[in-house]
Amino acid sequence: MTEPVAYAVKDGIAILTIENPPVNALSQGVRAGIIAGLDKADADAGVSAAVIIGGGRTFIAGADIKEFGKTPLQPYLPDVLKRIEAMTKPVVAALHGTALGGGFEVALTCHWRVALESGQVGLPEVKLGLLPGSGGTQRLPRLIGPKLALDMIVSGNPIPAKKAAELGAIDEIVTGDLLEGALAYARRVVAEQRPLRLVRDMNDKVSNVDPAVFSDYRKSIERKARGFLGPWRCIDAVEVATKLPMDEGLLKEREYFFECMGSPQRAAQIHAFFAEREAAKIPGLPEDVQAKPIKSAAVLGAGTMGGGIAMNFANAGIAVKLLDVSQEALSRGLGVIEKNYATSVARGSMKQEAMDRAMKLITGTQRFEDIGDADIVVEAVFEEMGVKKEVFGKLDKVMKQGAILATNTSTLDIDEIAASTKRPQDVIGTHFFSPANVMKLLENVRGAKSSPETIATVMAMGKTLKKVAVLAGNCDGFIGNRMLHGYLREANFLLEEGCSPEQIDRALEDFGLAMGPFRMSDLAGLDVGWRIRKGKAHLRPKDERYSKVADQLCELGRFGQKTGAGFYKYEGRDAVPDPVVKDIILAASREQGIERREISDEEIVQRCMYPLVNEGAKILEEGIAIRSGDIDITYLFGYGFPVYRGGPMFWAEQIGLDKVLATIRGFHKIHGKFWEPAKLLVERAEAGKGWSGR
Ligand SMILES: NC(=O)c1ccc[n+]([C@@H]2O[C@H](COP(=O)([O-])OP(=O)(O)OC[C@H]3O[C@@H](n4cnc5c(N)ncnc54)[C@H](O)[C@@H]3O)[C@@H](O)[C@H]2O)c1
Repeated sequence: MTEPVAYAVKDGIAILTIENPPVNALSQGVRAGIIAGLDKADADAGVSAAVIIGGGRTFIAGADIKEFGKTPLQPYLPDVLKRIEAMTKPVVAALHGTALGGGFEVALTCHWRVALESGQVGLPEVKLGLLPGSGGTQRLPRLIGPKLALDMIVSGNPIPAKKAAELGAIDEIVTGDLLEGALAYARRVVAEQRPLRLVRDMNDKVSNVDPAVFSDYRKSIERKARGFLGPWRCIDAVEVATKLPMDEGLLKEREYFFECMGSPQRAAQIHAFFAEREAAKIPGLPEDVQAKPIKSAAVLGAGTMGGGIAMNFANAGIAVKLLDVSQEALSRGLGVIEKNYATSVARGSMKQEAMDRAMKLITGTQRFEDIGDADIVVEAVFEEMGVKKEVFGKLDKVMKQGAILATNTSTLDIDEIAASTKRPQDVIGTHFFSPANVMKLLENVRGAKSSPETIATVMAMGKTLKKVAVLAGNCDGFIGNRMLHGYLREANFLLEEGCSPEQIDRALEDFGLAMGPFRMSDLAGLDVGWRIRKGKAHLRPKDERYSKVADQLCELGRFGQKTGAGFYKYEGRDAVPDPVVKDIILAASREQGIERREISDEEIVQRCMYPLVNEGAKILEEGIAIRSGDIDITYLFGYGFPVYRGGPMFWAEQIGLDKVLATIRGFHKIHGKFWEPAKLLVERAEAGKGWSGR
């Protein structure tokens, strides 16, 4: 086995090379190796300086997150940093790839930093519910000032090395060989007899800082960071750097770090991190299965979804033909796309050239013959089985052999759609979320006959389109919308039992949802669900409880935001409570013979969220979802579930499945059959286990 830190001496300079593939994570061996290397370099009279560099493709890319949540092993990272600061000889960090988190903190502690222009540096801890816990929040502001440090630490986004050099966090950009450049830099430092420069002693940028920097920053993240702990502690820690001496600042930073480390949010965010990676793995696919290359695409239907889906392909540099049977819809659709891009350019989030490039990749057509050579076609026409079947029949005729025929249906049976072609192996669901150019989730839905190659292709496509792809099985509503059903049902029942739409929305938004159920329904359009409910009315048992409030709103032409009124009335985009809605709700309670009562936020959260958990358990039990993490990812990226709760299934585990089950059993007694506990939930809860059976 190779040592995690290799030690060599070249022309009197010690070279410590981190060899901990794949990303040189700061595991215990690396921490110990750096200290040992520095000890050796300090003790060797023939050595005049040291360089720390990453072997392979990167400098230290961060902490070893496998160690999170476990008792850490000595030496700790602060011990490593203390050793660097105690060096009697210059230490130069040589950065390439991604110097992130603890890796960047190591670099910040060295006397000087050089980097390749292609490198990136950053402190992404906040994304895992943490803050940089080894001096990052104290050293970075000393180098680049508190405002820029806040931008990096609170967003967690890395910046290119060149930018870091402009800001003063990196001393030199090396062109050519990094090690040679770092050695040359070290030789220069020695030759010039520069005094050892420690960031801890650089106090200019953290002295006399206007406190408004921090109050303004807090205000600016108020909405985005609502409910999170990490971002707020990041700001607190940077503020400390401007108020306390270095060593006291480090202690305070550690205190905040451990507070975050001990918080359930950290566990949830790390779960989300791993679940996202795990979702890409599909057990049961042959090992040698290859995704088909997607170099060209077609999208059917230039409506709400089709336009957004086409933008995804264009953004990824893939030529896409947008087909609609209606010339008017096509022109409108292309117009909306152009307007969306123009808005991004105006906002500064997209360059004009990028917009021009994307627009050039999108062409409109009304003829099916024009799209035959596309590698994939995504159908996004009206949600009616008859229309879908007709369209897939046509696609079967015009598409080249081997093309993927995908449907964006939200609810319809993939197998029935596939059966209208002679190539069901190439048919699959690719369920995008609205707005399709923004929402990160891609819920792929396998049909009974979808081939492994087809599945692998749409999973890989998720990555190409910068989405998070989850694989679901074929059933009514798949993973996401199937679970949403019970959530919306209970929200509506709660209206009849005593709540107002605004009370329910507020309770769930306080829980952390991006939008409560009624504001969300108003945004999505109430007519969609109304049409579906009417279509299924004959299937509903007469004695089954049913809330008519939404139907009655639709009968009044209140379809939500688009008609200016739904569960709320709209003043611009602002949802305002409406007495008309209140009257409809009160009448519904009377008609059902329900005595309205005070309902707590806790009950609202349980009544709306536990159906997600219970249905999720059934979905897991039936194999519709491969693992509970996939359900969580679906809700995090498709439904605005708060990341700091890890997704509905993880959240339930954190509460304790036994406690969740007990509450569900209580609701079952009061509210009847909708609350029948899922078999898997009972099994896991009674065995005292989590979803995975462990
Ligand atoms: N709107 C959403 O939030 C959402 C989210 C996920 C999935 N979906 C699904 O996406 C699909 C499209 O939904 P939408 O909201 O974009 O609908 P939409 O009504 O906005 O657009 C549908 C478009 O398809 C065109 N069209 C109809 N028949 C066609 C045909 N035979 N050939 C070509 N074009 C045809 C129509 O002219 C129209 O422009 C549906 O299956 C829907 O369930 C919608």
